[in-house]
Amino acid sequence: MKKFCFILTALVVTCFLVACSGSQGVSPKTIKEKKKIVVATESEFAPFEFKSLVNGKDTLVGADIELAKAIGEKLGVKVEFSVMSFDNVLANVQSGKADIAIAGISVTDERKKVYDFSDSYYTSENVVIVKKDKVNDYTSTDSLAKQTVGTQKGSVQETVAKKQIPKASVVSLSSNGEMINELKSGQLQAVVLEKAIAEGYIAQNDDLTLANFNLKSDGTDAYAVATRKGSDDLLKEINAVIKETKDSGKFDQWLKEASTYEQSK
Ligand code: ARG
Repeated sequence: MKKFCFILTALVVTCFLVACSGSQGVSPKTIKEKKKIVVATESEFAPFEFKSLVNGKDTLVGADIELAKAIGEKLGVKVEFSVMSFDNVLANVQSGKADIAIAGISVTDERKKVYDFSDSYYTSENVVIVKKDKVNDYTSTDSLAKQTVGTQKGSVQETVAKKQIPKASVVSLSSNGEMINELKSGQLQAVVLEKAIAEGYIAQNDDLTLANFNLKSDGTDAYAVATRKGSDDLLKEINAVIKETKDSGKFDQWLKEASTYEQSK
């Protein structure tokens, strides 16, 4: 009998611990109770999230940052940004360190198995950046055979590059800024990024340009807010904010504003 009681207690305690762990969904109620929403993001992804000097202070700016603030406003709580490398952003939501992730995150079937996603708020496109003086050498994916192509660590572009430029050696870097520097210095011959981000770097570096060939869409071009599975009520609130910011043209406005900020080095 004693043994039975012990096993029963152990079972109850285990169930309780599992229920309390980060694996359950995020609810608007718990966010309102703690009076803040923790948002996992990254900081080298202009015009969506990046650092810029504002009134002499390094500040996180961009359209995703504004979207996060609008979500905080809707819930009536303050927004705490947790900045990390992109390959850690989703894991932070999974472990419960962050409530949501907003970082130009593409919705994929694989990610959908682990995370819940909001409605999409932006549609991206993959492009290849090369040095201007090499644009006539690298005119197709095949012409990049035996060359080194950079992608961001943990991004869907890792898979896109490996699949669509299979003859190249694809390397992953945590920092997009560093990747651009390696392209400029010739350690990389090409870089795969999404169009809006690529255009930002090209505008700031007149030795870089878009390659004259396109990559195929792989069905991962929708950006959405990610959270833990089972967060239906929270997603309803987030989707309402997304709908409003899209319908009112606010999101496009934020993207335009973001392009007026200079990205800190
Ligand atoms: N959209 C791509 C993905 O979801 C890249 C996102 C990178 N975001 C960033 N903030 N660096 O994999």
